[in-house]
Amino acid sequence: MKIKDFLKAQPGVKRNELEIFLCRVLDISRTEIILQEDRILNKDELATLKKMVDARKAGKPVAYILNEKEFYGRMFYVDGSVLIPRPETETTIDIIREIYERDFEGRKIRIIDVGTGSGCIAVTLKLELKNCAGILAVDKSLEALSVAKKNAKKLGAEVEFCESNLLGAVDGDFDIIVANLPYVDTKWDWLDKTTLGFEPEIALYAENEGLQLIFELLEQAKGRAKYVILEADPCQHVKIENFARQRGFEPVKTEGFIIALKALQV
Ligand SMILES: C[S@@+](CC[C@H](N)C(=O)[O-])C[C@H]1O[C@@H](n2cnc3c(N)ncnc32)[C@H](O)[C@@H]1O
Repeated sequence: MKIKDFLKAQPGVKRNELEIFLCRVLDISRTEIILQEDRILNKDELATLKKMVDARKAGKPVAYILNEKEFYGRMFYVDGSVLIPRPETETTIDIIREIYERDFEGRKIRIIDVGTGSGCIAVTLKLELKNCAGILAVDKSLEALSVAKKNAKKLGAEVEFCESNLLGAVDGDFDIIVANLPYVDTKWDWLDKTTLGFEPEIALYAENEGLQLIFELLEQAKGRAKYVILEADPCQHVKIENFARQRGFEPVKTEGFIIALKALQV
């Protein structure tokens, strides 16, 4: 089969996804695919491509098929033990950079990433803030921690890791606590569950309308952090802000899915 026929013959999979699979298997660029459309695919190439196409037809996300996902301009390894990093989470990095420049410029600060998953937030912050931050990344899932460590090594980021249920196994205070914890309510029937069905439940769902872990973290963070940066669905923001105010945090910025809270006193 020629490349151009492969690109036509796969109902149920988008053309751009087929191109991405071809790039991976043939180790060529998207432009080269077009230039080489008459190239004949050999038996091994076709067998690998067929596996990818079948997986995609079964709904498996492209990121899990390729074992990679871009986050803030860097490629992270991902597998079924971690959430696939989302574009909306990138705002977290922008907000923390802004806070750093405004409040901490020139200082070495201490940041903890709670529920690090693939390590995308912790690793990116370490690389973006250069040597300005000591970063600790924690997760309850050992499988996730192993993926996060792999990403830190691959991308050359010096991050410390620790298995912990929220802040349970962690001592001391932090300049910034950042957390993209599970916040999906199992009752949300408006969510497209195709991708979610392949992601680990521990990374997605929380009790109490999705707010349980966020509320627990805010209780623990009281008196231990200057800033808490959280991700949640916008429909949960008002409840989180009210809960946070009662624990001594003032909402200072909300953008997309991200809320930044500042401690009134530490
Ligand atoms: C929504 S994923 C976020 C992953 C990554 N930070 C990101 O933004 O892509 C939530 C992560 O929190 C972890 N987690 C769930 N419950 C936790 C808990 N009680 N303590 C620590 N981590 C937890 C999950 O294992 C998962 O890796």
